[in-house]
Amino acid sequence: MNRLTKNAVLAVACWTLAAMPGLLATPAVAADNAPYKVAEGNKVDAQTLSGWKTWRAMACERCHGAAQEGMVGPSLVNSLRVLSKEEFKTAVLKGRIEKGMPNFDTSKMVSENIDNLYAYLKGRSDGAIEPGRLQEIGK
Ligand code: HEC
Repeated sequence: MNRLTKNAVLAVACWTLAAMPGLLATPAVAADNAPYKVAEGNKVDAQTLSGWKTWRAMACERCHGAAQEGMVGPSLVNSLRVLSKEEFKTAVLKGRIEKGMPNFDTSKMVSENIDNLYAYLKGRSDGAIEPGRLQEIGK
């Protein structure tokens, strides 16, 4: 390998390494079959927005943290990678009273928005939706 080629190879290797943290830091993109739509990390479809509003109204963050990463209750960012949608619904609606998770089936808002709540938390868990305030896409 002559010196010029060697330098060129080195340059490409360095560029690749330098670009890697950027590639790794790229937020996860919502899958085609995701239950939510998101743009720019904090704009979501109307249903997902209702899910977030329900989350806020019920103050789930008291126990699960404002960024859903866990406090008294477990990290829902992790939980939603594992729980099926049905398991999620059962956990939220029926609760696990003896373990400190209240039941929310007496709340009209939660019962009506359980799919939206799931969509919102799934988006948080996928890393596609940012923590904090959201607004509706196109508004
Ligand atoms: C008073 C505290 C508290 C509040 C408020 C609360 N949770 Fe929980 N939650 C917990 C605890 C504690 C657990 C863990 C129960 C266990 O050990 O199985 C839990 C478990 C869960 C689970 C199951 C997690 C898993 O990995 O199995 C989900 C989903 C969940 N909570 C969602 C919510 C949502 C959504 C809200 C708001 C509507 C909410 N929680 C409000 C305390 C709370």
